[in-house]
Amino acid sequence: MDISIIGSGYVGLVTGACFADIGHHVICVDNDAEKVKQLKAGEIPIYEPGLEEIIHRNVSARRLRFTGSIQEGVENSQIIFIAVPTPPLPDGDVDLSFVEKVAREIAGVLTDYRVIVDKSTVPVKTGEKVAESIKRYNRRGAKFDVVSNPEFLREGCAVADLMHPDRIVIGAQSEHAIDLMKKVYEPFMAPILVTDISSAELIKHCANSFLALKISYINAVSAICEASGADVQRVADGIGMDHRIGRDFLNAGIGYGGSCFPKDIAAFIAISDQLGTPFNLLREVQRINEEQKTRFLKTIRDTLWVLREKRIAVWGLTFKPDTDDVRSSVAIELVEQLLREGAYVIAYDPKGMHKARAIKAIADAEFASSAIEAISDAEALVIATDWNEFANVDLAVLREKMRTPIVFDGRNLLDPETMRQFGFHYYSIGRASVRPQ
Ligand code: UDX
Repeated sequence: MDISIIGSGYVGLVTGACFADIGHHVICVDNDAEKVKQLKAGEIPIYEPGLEEIIHRNVSARRLRFTGSIQEGVENSQIIFIAVPTPPLPDGDVDLSFVEKVAREIAGVLTDYRVIVDKSTVPVKTGEKVAESIKRYNRRGAKFDVVSNPEFLREGCAVADLMHPDRIVIGAQSEHAIDLMKKVYEPFMAPILVTDISSAELIKHCANSFLALKISYINAVSAICEASGADVQRVADGIGMDHRIGRDFLNAGIGYGGSCFPKDIAAFIAISDQLGTPFNLLREVQRINEEQKTRFLKTIRDTLWVLREKRIAVWGLTFKPDTDDVRSSVAIELVEQLLREGAYVIAYDPKGMHKARAIKAIADAEFASSAIEAISDAEALVIATDWNEFANVDLAVLREKMRTPIVFDGRNLLDPETMRQFGFHYYSIGRASVRPQ
C-alpha cells in the first residue's frame, strides 16, 4: 500500500521503516529540513538496534523515501499516519499543537479520500478534534476518515515490537477505513482489535499507566522488603509465576523514566481530572516513583556520610538499556543531585554519552570513555541503568581499581552474595545490603 508518515521522530521513523520492510511504499515526512537531509544521506538520527540496516535496505529497494513536504506525502498515499510529538505542558496536560498543525496542513492539500491515522499518544477525544479541524480547513470538502492506531513500541526493541506485535488496535468508525487499516497490518500476522476511536485512544494511556503501576507496585514492595529482610526479586518471581499477574515489569529499581511513562501518566491524570473522574491511583504511582529516587539517594548519603568532594562513578545515563535516549532519565536526575551535593561525578554510558554531554544540569560531571575508566580511584559506584555490559563486569578488576569498594546498584544487576565474596559493600533495591566477609 502507499503510506505516508508525518513526523520522522522515534515512532514515525521506526514505523515507516518497518512498514516498508514488509512491502508497503512509504514516504516519511518531517518539517526539520536538517533531519530530512541527514536521512536522505543515510544517516540515522537515533540509535535503535536494527533500524539503520532496515532503512538502508528499503531506501535501496525504493520502498522508503524522505521528504519535507506534507503535500508530497498526502498526494502519494492512501493512508497518512500522524506521528508527531505530543509533549507535556507544565500542568501535566498534553500540548497538542503539533497534531493540530499537521491536521490543518493535511486539510490544506487534501483533494481525494484519505485515511488519516493518529499514531501519536494523545488524550481521549483527540480523534474527534482532528476530524473537526480537517473538515474546517479543507475548502474542497474532500472525503476522509480519521482512525486511532496507538503504538506500543519500547525503545531498544522497537523494531522487534513493531514486527511482532502482541496486538494491533484500530479505532475507527468507517468500515472502509477499517478494511484499509487491516490491509496495512495483514502481513504482521498479529491479532487485530477493532474499537471505536475513543476506546483506542484510551487503550494507549491505560496500557502505559498499568505498566507504570506494576513498576510502582513492586517498588513499594521493595521498601517493605528492605525493612523486613525479604528479597524483592524472590517476591516478584513468586507473584509473577501466577499467569494472571505475570513477571514482566516487576523489576524493582530506582523508578521508571523515559519519554513515555512520566508524560503519559501525568497526561492521563490531567484528562481524568478534566472529565470529572480523578484517577488518584495514578497520583500514588507517581509518588512512589519519586520516593524510590529519594530512598536511593538517602542510602548513598547514609553510607558515604558526606558527599562533598567524594569521587563517585555513575554507570548508566540513558533511561533504560539499548537506547541512547536520556530524556527524563532517572540516571541523569541522580547525577544532577550528586553534583548539587558537591560530589565529584565521573559518568559513563555505552550509548548515551553524546546526548548526556549536552545536558546543562550535569555539565560539571566528568565523562569517562569506559566503565573501568569511570571507576578508577572511585570511592563509590552507582549503577543507574541496567546495561548488560555492567552486569558482566570483571568484579576482581572493579574491586582492585576502586579506592573504596562501595557499590549502590539501582537496578539489581549484580548478585549480593557474589559481591560479598569479592569484598564489596553492596546496596541494591529491596534486598539486604552486604558487607565484605
Ligand atoms: C514504554 C512502553 O513499554 C511502550 O509500550 C510504549 O509504547 C512506550 O512506553 P519505553 O518508554 O521505551 O516503552 O520503555 P520501557 O521498557 O517500558 O521502560 C520504561 C521505564 O520503566 C524505564 O525507565 C525502565 O528502566 C523502567 N522499568 C521497566 C522498571 O523500572 N522496571 C521494570 O520492570 C520495567
